Amino acid sequence: MKEWTEQQRKAISARNCNLLVSAGAGSGKTAVMLERICSLLREGADIRKMTMCTFTKTAAADMRRKLSETLADCVEKTGDAWLEKQLARLPAAEISTLHSWCAHIIKKWFFYSDLEPEFTVAEEAEEAALKSEAAEEVLEEEKERGDEAFAGLYAAFLSNRSHRRLKEAMLAVYDYSRAQPNPDEWLLRSASRKDSEYREILFSAIKRDAEKLVSDAEKLLADLAAAKFNKDYEALAVLKECMESEVACTLTTPQLRNKPELEELHARFKELKAQYAELCRRREKIESMPSHETSLPYCRALAELAFKLGEKYAASKREKGKADYSDLEHQTLKILGGEHGERILSEYTHVFVDEYQDISPLQEEILKKFKCEMFFVGDVKQSIYGFRMCRPKFFIDKRERYRKGEGKTVELTANFRSGAKILNTVNGIFLQL
Ligand SMILES: Nc1ncnc2c1ncn2[C@@H]1O[C@H](COP(=O)(O)OP(=O)(O)O)[C@@H](O)[C@H]1O
Ligand SMILES: [Mg+2]
Repeated sequence: MKEWTEQQRKAISARNCNLLVSAGAGSGKTAVMLERICSLLREGADIRKMTMCTFTKTAAADMRRKLSETLADCVEKTGDAWLEKQLARLPAAEISTLHSWCAHIIKKWFFYSDLEPEFTVAEEAEEAALKSEAAEEVLEEEKERGDEAFAGLYAAFLSNRSHRRLKEAMLAVYDYSRAQPNPDEWLLRSASRKDSEYREILFSAIKRDAEKLVSDAEKLLADLAAAKFNKDYEALAVLKECMESEVACTLTTPQLRNKPELEELHARFKELKAQYAELCRRREKIESMPSHETSLPYCRALAELAFKLGEKYAASKREKGKADYSDLEHQTLKILGGEHGERILSEYTHVFVDEYQDISPLQEEILKKFKCEMFFVGDVKQSIYGFRMCRPKFFIDKRERYRKGEGKTVELTANFRSGAKILNTVNGIFLQL
């Protein structure tokens, strides 16, 4: 049995209010959310009227398992019949990613969506392939058309005679627009956007890759530690030194290379360095983009490219009977905002959102439709990195409003995970991105 801290207890037992819990990794945010769910069920809440959102499918499965263990424990000890009923209902409980929840809502209320009855959800690889195809087609057509603003944009992004960077940029702008409640309107407005905002969008694509790099680096660190490579901090120092250097190939890592048994780790290490250098090059490219006055026509041209990409991509999805994740969200917002939305949402008494700092503007709009008790947990520090196109703004705004009385806030300060310090240092390396 855990000894909850006072702050944790507050987050678990506060009643009849919206609540936002913020803290860093390993402070027990998810554990608190689980305990709160259990205690509400014990008091008579019904799990069929709750929905619990996590960021990954793994996290959802994990949460269902832990909830099952805790409830089973409780039933064993108390013989509580209501809890036993809740435990039996657990397999059907809404514990999922927000995307899966959207898919569930669409399935149930399909008639009120715009999707074709036989649609299937596109796999990530298929989505990427269809988008890439659409982008290539748009670029070919635009080259033919010979528009002046496009020519300027094309030249600005050209590298090694390849339009790869321009393609990356238009995909980034497109994805960003789709994470807004109103993508077309957003693109239209973005024609007059300040270029600093555009930069942020282009950076967000790099940040997503950086996130993958961080998690690879974390794994490598763990493996280094497992290989008893002196002490963690020594391995970390090497990693940091190399990652901070943008001349990846010239740097040597003698400590690692002199040990044959660490060869595989060394190879992975070099690969990470190379990827990091590539990210740095992409960042420089964006930083050296022309300033606001000269780049306004470029922004307009880029928004137009993203718009055309969207049209082509939508057509190929229609043709193949596919919907992507953002379609699921947009259709859910449509259903919830429609005439039956209120009735659908009145079925819920409690909503729990884990990793709230990663919520997109579109997802926030969906969450805002709920009229029941809301519980958010998020990582304040992670939000600073701005990974995954997240908008720490929502997190920070909500915390401000809750502090002023719209709800309650709790900050967790203790840390229960060993090794967290190392992870933070690794994250720190990427803070500059
Ligand atoms: N009060 C506590 N005492 C002991 N361990 C705790 C306590 N609170 C949380 N933990 C443990 O700390 C670890 C991290 O908790 P978790 O909820 O995953 O953190 P977070 O979601 O904030 O990253 C888990 O193994 C959890 O069981
Ligand atoms: Mg967590």
